[in-house]
Amino acid sequence: MILVVDFGGQTAHLIFRRVREFGVEAKIVSPEEILPLRQTQGQNDIRVKGIILSGGPSSVYEKNAPTIDPKIFSLGIPILGICYGLQLTAYLLGGKVVSGKKEYGPAELKISNFKFQISNELPQQFIVWMSHGDEVISLPKGFETIGSTEHVPFAFVEDSKRKIIGLQFHPEVEHTEFGRIILENFVKICKLSVNPKEIDIRSIEKDVEEKVGDSYVIGAVSGGVDSAVAGILTAKAIGDRFIPIYVDNGLMRKGTEEHVKRIFSQHANINPIVINAVGETISKLKGITDSEEKRKIIGNFYIEIFEKEMKKLQNSKKDVKFLLQGTIYSDVIESQGTKHAAKIKSHHNVGALPKNMKLKLLEPLRHFYKDEVRAIGQKLGLPDEFINKQPFPGPGYAVRIRGEVTKERLIMERQADDIVLEELKKANILDKVFLSFPVLTNAFSTAVKGDGRHFGEVVALRVVESKDVMTSTWARLPYDVLQKISSRIVNEVPNVSRVVYDITTKPPATMEWE
Ligand code: XMP
Repeated sequence: MILVVDFGGQTAHLIFRRVREFGVEAKIVSPEEILPLRQTQGQNDIRVKGIILSGGPSSVYEKNAPTIDPKIFSLGIPILGICYGLQLTAYLLGGKVVSGKKEYGPAELKISNFKFQISNELPQQFIVWMSHGDEVISLPKGFETIGSTEHVPFAFVEDSKRKIIGLQFHPEVEHTEFGRIILENFVKICKLSVNPKEIDIRSIEKDVEEKVGDSYVIGAVSGGVDSAVAGILTAKAIGDRFIPIYVDNGLMRKGTEEHVKRIFSQHANINPIVINAVGETISKLKGITDSEEKRKIIGNFYIEIFEKEMKKLQNSKKDVKFLLQGTIYSDVIESQGTKHAAKIKSHHNVGALPKNMKLKLLEPLRHFYKDEVRAIGQKLGLPDEFINKQPFPGPGYAVRIRGEVTKERLIMERQADDIVLEELKKANILDKVFLSFPVLTNAFSTAVKGDGRHFGEVVALRVVESKDVMTSTWARLPYDVLQKISSRIVNEVPNVSRVVYDITTKPPATMEWE
């Protein structure tokens, strides 16, 4: 197996996923676990054929920065250090790292040295994705440069004698071209064979059956792909002991309720319970402007509603113990999923849940990514138009309205959203992008409307392309489509003065603004 040492990087689990996709066994371990694991001299020890050191939010010079026993470098096992993993390797072996050389997003890598197996089948030049605050400025003895970018001379390095490879960029993210080839080459350097495997749906269903036993499960279904796939999977596993519930909180897109009903009646023969919580949600959000607070209020209220439903069902002799959620791994890691990871935002279904909730969580998709969930949905027979539907965040329009969510601003947001959806659909673009939405920015600017001065809100348009959610680029929309959207929003949505297009990649910017 290959060990992935997790220094708290957002994509440490994604590295694990890539290795697993090659059909190679992998295990995520914390830096503190790795040497004791070797020193046990037990079964596990002998089976470790390679070690990958992940990225992480720390700087090697920080007090309490996670580190690793340098003895691992003399075990004779191939080691791949990615980002922080490379910086730590260089630092521990006598190289130099500097802080504050930040770079986020795409960069062009040029390979200058094709001597080693790690660069097999790579072209001379390709795009890689960076996300780092520090950089190696002097290599430890024994290392040679394989490739560089404009700003990073030691972007791709190797000490061939000790079989240590270092990458400043992230080969695991989908937007790094040829990232898979680099990882595949590393797997081969570890003398492991690559036999891609498919996701075993039956084993996920079996896990659900075992965990749930004879009890009932209520399911939070939002109309999105994740909760629907989790729901249909659970219905297949436990039949009508699964009860889907859709909460209309007034923050969802038009038509969501009908969509949820259709999916569950057609594909699981179940009619979801629908709860109207529009008025209460808006009043709970009154006066709240902080994005994390909004998420927490929505997460908490959500659980309140489900616990009430649990009691009602228990009164009618249904032993409800679990709440099913369509949580996926990107929700988990952004809400701070591992020991050394930084918190990016509290996804309403993970980091924004109350601590004292009575229902136990059932999250069969917690270790999967969006594209894997879509593949599972396809295997379950869900229609393509449903599987490829844009994701919509649980806190809905509340995180697309900067500042206070009021009835008036919700109407503006919804109107602008409908315009964007309509125009992208007309242009045949809607199902080709990952997400599209307008943001009410809470910034104001001057406009001239009908010869008069107008001081209205700035709407930011965000349209992104992604597969696994961990990285994204902005969609290169045709100018005439951008023009149409902009004109319609400033003309049709009251109190809007201008439209700007958000051209920031993730990283550094998350897809949603809040
Ligand atoms: P970010 O903004 O984190 O978005 O790059 C990644 C994906 O997650 C969705 N998102 C959420 N989904 N609850 C959800 O169910 C949340 O609190 C939440 N926040 C972001 C976002 O729409 C995108 O698909």
